[in-house]
Amino acid sequence: MKIEVHPDATAVACRSVDVICSALRARPDAWLGLPTGKTPVLTYAELKARTSTASCDMNRTTACAVDEFCAPSENVGTNAAFYAEHLPFCGNLRSPSAAAPDPLSEIKRFASAIREHGGLDLCLLGIGVNGHIAFNEPGSPRDSRARVVDLAATTVRAHAEGFGGEDNVPRQGMTLGVADILESKSLLVLATGASKAAIVAAAIQGPVTADVPASWLRGHADVTWMLDQTAAAGLNHAQRG
Ligand code: GLP
Repeated sequence: MKIEVHPDATAVACRSVDVICSALRARPDAWLGLPTGKTPVLTYAELKARTSTASCDMNRTTACAVDEFCAPSENVGTNAAFYAEHLPFCGNLRSPSAAAPDPLSEIKRFASAIREHGGLDLCLLGIGVNGHIAFNEPGSPRDSRARVVDLAATTVRAHAEGFGGEDNVPRQGMTLGVADILESKSLLVLATGASKAAIVAAAIQGPVTADVPASWLRGHADVTWMLDQTAAAGLNHAQRG
């Protein structure tokens, strides 16, 4: 496990795009897992800037969602809406359909396509304040696969703004499972801001447990945590590097 601590969120975004672009130079037809959330927004803005100057070429890249809400439509608040806003430059974007009539079949089909590719080449992740990765909420086992899940109360609250109020947030989501995520060749976890300090410390230094799904990432051979100073504040000195 590698841990990089950068001065601020902008530096995390720049450095994370260095890693993405270097992965794409090594494999231009890579499949990337790209999360939603507030954390990766700066990364995607930087990625957009670099792809527009051709210093990073995504023409042959496949970008994959890691989760989606089970929602009545694809419009406001969904991850599809997020991707349309922040990743419009990704021509080949794969995402499960939020309004699929059979969400379990939808996410299983989506995960199968990733498995047929041989797993994601690089998967970016954020971390929820409760330790979730994608929509693998606390309680998610190490061997969990793509499935439909009930969203935790903190997750529903975190998405209230996007859906125009907590009451409108779907209570279920589709997610790649922990095992699907761990099959990625390389993992890059982004965390910025003081609100993530406690959970980052728990995931990196605490017990490896389903109570903190991000702690499962410690079993992966190629995982990098990319943190800003405030998100790294709970780590002990040795781990901050
Ligand atoms: C969301 C997403 C995750 C994301 C996480 C953190 O619910 N399903 O993929 O990593 O929560 O979001 P944020 O970056 O806004 O804290």
